[in-house]
Amino acid sequence: MRISVIGCGYLGAVHAACMAKLGHEVVGIDVDERRIGDLQAGRAPFFEPGLPELLAEVQATGRLSFSTEMDDAAGAGVHFVCVGTPQRKGEYAADLRYVDAAFASLAAHLRPGDVVVGKSTVPVGTAARLAADLAGTAPEAVLAWNPEFLREGFAVADTLHPDRFVYGVPAGGTGTAAAAALDEVYAAPLADGTPRLVTDYATAELVKTAANSFLATKISFINAMAELCDAAGADVTVLADAIGLDERIGRRFLNAGIGFGGGCLPKDIRAFMARAGELGADQALTFLREVDAINMRRRTRVVEMTRELCGGSLLGKRITVLGAAFKPDSDDVRDSPALSVAAQLQLQGATVTVTDPEALANAKTRFPELTYDPVPETAIAGAHALLLLTEWRQYTSLDPAAVGAQVAERNILDGRNVLDPAAWRAAGWKYKGIGRP
Ligand code: UGA
Repeated sequence: MRISVIGCGYLGAVHAACMAKLGHEVVGIDVDERRIGDLQAGRAPFFEPGLPELLAEVQATGRLSFSTEMDDAAGAGVHFVCVGTPQRKGEYAADLRYVDAAFASLAAHLRPGDVVVGKSTVPVGTAARLAADLAGTAPEAVLAWNPEFLREGFAVADTLHPDRFVYGVPAGGTGTAAAAALDEVYAAPLADGTPRLVTDYATAELVKTAANSFLATKISFINAMAELCDAAGADVTVLADAIGLDERIGRRFLNAGIGFGGGCLPKDIRAFMARAGELGADQALTFLREVDAINMRRRTRVVEMTRELCGGSLLGKRITVLGAAFKPDSDDVRDSPALSVAAQLQLQGATVTVTDPEALANAKTRFPELTYDPVPETAIAGAHALLLLTEWRQYTSLDPAAVGAQVAERNILDGRNVLDPAAWRAAGWKYKGIGRP
């Protein structure tokens, strides 16, 4: 099939490469010339494991190209819209300007029978509005909403082997045709048995925001339990293992720590609350306020714990933060709890050095006032406290004895509960985890 992918960020670039891998002829389009330049040269414009290899593989087939011109979408039969929907400045609601701009500029290039597929995370009701707009500008094209559930760090595998497909389509023959087109696009993963649910637009949009809200709730639940464990002298990691053995609960996404960040969970729960308010259903989601509050409280708590670890004052203390990305295997620092803690510590008088294997360039742009060092050994040298805030494998496998020889004082805060407290204490460290005695 001939496919266009509008928007080549974390979602679109991976989607375009994966669709070419599935055998389709794909053009990826983005207004960002630098990003498109990178992709045309076969370089991934961000860090995502497996993406450089996939780009090289599919570009060699000649099936994948990139362009800054929307004209190049003409001729494709299926057009995926993958642009970002960030949080509006000073508000909870999602900023839909990129979605609106993509649809407006794509409409002029659509032919009868073309299928436009929205993948961006949007407030419920957006697809119906866009479909009504398309009815005016490109009446013989049809809109489907096909939310994306990929995780950064696993984006390629999640796109090629998703847990499920959700198609939001209009009722009647046009909806059936749109679902058939998507079945053809995803023929290979469907043949492998990937479940597929066909719904109306509103349900498809809600599936995505409900899934992210549930995941955020699960993380904040375990972080609330960590607060209780801290107060009662219990261990939240054992608690999570024990409740997670109940299949109805499940152990995944029950890792207590410094909380969730990134370009999705935080802004999605806020946009969901804002949309519920517009629909007169705000009461249904008031619990998400608490989910957000528990999450933001983690960051303040980690600053306080660091102060305690440093003997009551941060003034003049050298602190090394291990990890800047919002999670490992990503260079994404959007709403990164690690960086937000680092910036707070610096504001409160500490001298903070941040190290990360991939995210330092992005971190520098966001927080130029912090000191960055890509080499863990020199970043650690002379520190009064180490804070492990993003669980990259190179940090979780650190040797407490070797690191102990480099620091000024053996204090470590394990913000992700990934180190063995006994091993670090045996090597003379003062170890503090989250919700661990
Ligand atoms: C999330 C969802 O997991 C994807 O399904 C969804 O497609 C994506 O958002 C999106 O909307 O585009 P992502 O933001 O890549 O994916 O990251 P997650 O793996 O969900 O992690 C989010 C945050 O939660 C990270 O900061 C992570 O460190 C934190 N987390 C995760 C915890 O603190 N504890 C856990 O147990 C799990």
